[in-house]
This record gives sequence, structure tokens and C-alpha cells, in this order.
Amino acid sequence: MATNRTFTMIKPDATGNGYIGGILKMINEAGFRIVAMKYTKLTKEAAGAFYEVHKERPFYGELVDYMSSGTIVAAILEKENAVADFRKLIGATDPTKADEGTIRKIYAKSISANAVHGSDSDENAAIEGNFFFSNLERF
Ligand code: CMP
Repeated sequence: MATNRTFTMIKPDATGNGYIGGILKMINEAGFRIVAMKYTKLTKEAAGAFYEVHKERPFYGELVDYMSSGTIVAAILEKENAVADFRKLIGATDPTKADEGTIRKIYAKSISANAVHGSDSDENAAIEGNFFFSNLERF
């Protein structure tokens, strides 16, 4: 059953280019409520652990280097059908394939510098949210 929460990160390309406000505005206008939010920088170890599911992929090293290269904004978002609706809002992983009007179409530069992360399942949304925020039941 779909839950009503998802997890996102605004990635270093977007934070570095001053897109945090624009991205959060799109998230709010699409009906998501911010449940928890953190502005931080990942160490290589933390980025590696967060993306461990991809460790056999050829782009893993690049992904870890990139995600630890600058500041990020991590957030838990709430809305009915949150995981699927947020993936629609952000668009395809590769911004050249993202639909018009999606966050990645507007703000992303490349497949690795793709502005935002969005959880791909309810299970991963809970795991990823727990990675950044403890005592989630408080939120
Ligand atoms: P994200 O939604 O954060 O989840 C995994 C990330 O890996 C993805 O966004 C991309 O930024 C990155 N990624 C996926 N495929 C590739 C690829 N072929 N080359 C580089 N990075 C990739």
C-alpha cells in the first residue's frame, strides 16, 4: 500500500547554483508538505553508504564523489501517493529525457548532476529518511 511520505535531496549542482528556493517552491506548489529538512554536506563515506544499493554500478564512484562535493538539502515530504507523485514532479533521471515542467527539466544539468533525488519506493523512502533523521515518529 502506498504511504504518504517520500524522501528527497537537493543535490550539489542545484544548491551551488542558487536553485534551492525555486525547487522548494515547486515542491510546495505541487502539494507536498515538508516534514523534516536538513542543509548539510555528506562525507564520501556517508554518500557511499547512502547509495550503497548502486555499489556494483559503473557510475558508483562518480556518484559518491559528486554527492560529497558540495552542500545538499535532505528532506522528508508528505502528500497522498508521495513516492509516485514526487517522481512525476522531478521527471526522468536523465534531464534530456525529463518532461517539460519537471524539476529536472528546469534545473538539472546532466544525469549525475540532476538537481534532485527522489525515493523509488515506500520502503526506500523510509530507509533514506531514517539515514538523515532520527526519531522520525516525532515529525
Ligand atoms: P538518484 O535519483 O539520486 O539515484 C541514483 C543516481 O545515480 C541518479 O539519481 C543519478 O544521479 C545517478 N546515475 C544514474 N545513472 C547514471 C549514469 N549512467 N551515470 C552517472 N550517474 C548516474
